Amino acid sequence: MTIDKQSIIDDLMVEPGVIHLNNAGASLMPRCVLEAQVEHLRLEATIGGYEAEAARHEELEALYESVAGLINCRADEVAIVENATVGWMMAFYALRFERGDRILTAEAEYASNYLAYLQVARDKGVSIETIPSTVDGEICVDSLEAMLDERVRLISVTHIPTNGGLVNPVEAIGAVARAHNIDYLVDACQSAGQLALDVDAIQCDLLSATGRKFLRGPRGVGFLYVSKRILDRLHPPMIDLFSATWVDVDRYELRPDARRFENWENNYAARLGLRSAIDYALGIGLDKIEAEVIRLAASLRKMLARLNGVTVHDIGKRKCGIVSFSVAGVEAGEVATRLARDGIHVSVTTPDGTLIDATRRHLPDMVRASVHYFNQDTELDRLIEVVETIAAG
Ligand SMILES: Cc1ncc(COP(=O)(O)O)c(C=O)c1O
Repeated sequence: MTIDKQSIIDDLMVEPGVIHLNNAGASLMPRCVLEAQVEHLRLEATIGGYEAEAARHEELEALYESVAGLINCRADEVAIVENATVGWMMAFYALRFERGDRILTAEAEYASNYLAYLQVARDKGVSIETIPSTVDGEICVDSLEAMLDERVRLISVTHIPTNGGLVNPVEAIGAVARAHNIDYLVDACQSAGQLALDVDAIQCDLLSATGRKFLRGPRGVGFLYVSKRILDRLHPPMIDLFSATWVDVDRYELRPDARRFENWENNYAARLGLRSAIDYALGIGLDKIEAEVIRLAASLRKMLARLNGVTVHDIGKRKCGIVSFSVAGVEAGEVATRLARDGIHVSVTTPDGTLIDATRRHLPDMVRASVHYFNQDTELDRLIEVVETIAAG
């Protein structure tokens, strides 16, 4: 079950000499994704935005089917939104919290999500509690189970944290959430496009993701999954004339599907790009993509760990394509700048992105090299060469 690497490389438009290892930031679009967008922008410029949307109505509707195929849900359980954060926030703030409610989350939770917990803690008097991790670093499902009582209103976790290489056991967590009938929200921003996602297997009620990262789609577009089980209980935190209909002077009706979390105006070129990106990933196969990502990342971790002065900070029994490391005596920002001079793109993550995990593990600013299935072993060798030089001082 291997990937046809050559055809994938042929679809890249990457500038010669560039080694893109910032796929957890924004990946490289394949040619078809760019073309889907350019074609639509051209149509908008030539016949008008509304007319272009009408002309592409079927393809735009098909995006919902593509997302449904990607995560194994129904098309009417999908909302297309501006980014993962908007999707996540729409879901989170639609849950009506009350004083005394408990939110259980992960130690390596993403800053934006945690900030929202803090806000409802301040406004509504809910408590936020982190589920302890196992010795390997992932969320401990036994500990989660031991924390449950009738006040737990939400289990909300990040599938793949923004750094640290970890894949959290979202299926096992979902089994607990379902058994106890607790709402379950999953941030799949870093996992969509990197590994197979099945909301039936995860048993989540809500799941958010973005287009530009491992899905290799455009910027400024993402999606939210809202399970049929929960939809009727959720009132979007903001509504407009798309998400609801003004049926009487003092009355409105919400849309009956997950699109109640959308609003009227959209970037249709980006939507068509996202559809193309999802279909491209499905065409390759998420299992094959994951296998190649895991192989490359494991190889990179091994090579980095052998270098003097380099520490790999990744945790978890199951790891992903995100590799986090630091170089003794050299700031992560400086490492990234020097790599960029050689055409190697990485990013830097700072402790405030995952404050609880970073504090617990005394993490410094870290270099984040995130591989994707189009990367080549020779590119990783080049990264290692440059990092070795930097570490040697
Ligand atoms: C784990 C995680 N969740 C959410 C986000 C936010 O995604 P977006 O920028 O698409 O809103 C990120 C972005 O890096 C992330 O790493």
